[in-house]
Amino acid sequence: MKGKGVLLQGSSKSNGNTNKIITYIQEKTGFDIIDLKSKNIGAFDYEFKNQDDDFIPLMKNIVETYDIIIFATPVYWYAMSGILKNFMDRITDCLKIEKEIGRQLRGKTMGMISCGSDAELKEGFTMPFIETANYLGMHYLGDIHTWIEDEKITKSLQHELDVFIEEKIIHI
Ligand SMILES: Cc1cc2nc3c(=O)[nH]c(=O)nc-3n(C[C@H](O)[C@H](O)[C@H](O)COP(=O)(O)O)c2cc1C
Repeated sequence: MKGKGVLLQGSSKSNGNTNKIITYIQEKTGFDIIDLKSKNIGAFDYEFKNQDDDFIPLMKNIVETYDIIIFATPVYWYAMSGILKNFMDRITDCLKIEKEIGRQLRGKTMGMISCGSDAELKEGFTMPFIETANYLGMHYLGDIHTWIEDEKITKSLQHELDVFIEEKIIHI
């Protein structure tokens, strides 16, 4: 593994399905989980009026502590959650007013985990993550789509997750 990793949980439910999935991944990787719902992170503002909220200190901590950043998002209306989108939009703060943080993202590794109610993920869902990694000069390790059935991770999904963890996370 290329260093310490973090799973950034972008769900509107702290102990919901996305959390079930990333807790499984945490057990196998030892990665930390940061629940974005527990933070006060406002939407992007052109006048940076919310620069005193939790975003800048959180981001500073992330770039100083982790080499692998994995976004974990439920599928809400065919797209990433609003909580995660706000976080991603605020990365613009790191390119405009906190440029040192932006520079520190370069060379780090990004990944993405989606969690829907459906086993199928519609085309295009992963594009914003891949392109954001490209734009920021980050390496994209890949992504995996997940779902929960009867409150559980199915055996076959567990296997897929194990392969993802082994091939994309442990062996980078
Ligand atoms: C606002 C909202 C929109 C949703 N839209 C979709 C969707 O477009 N496709 C899908 O497969 N599931 C959709 N779902 C179902 C969730 O993706 C699914 O239940 C997921 O496992 C929830 O994870 P969570 O408990 O972390 O929120 C939606 C759920 C909500 C609350």
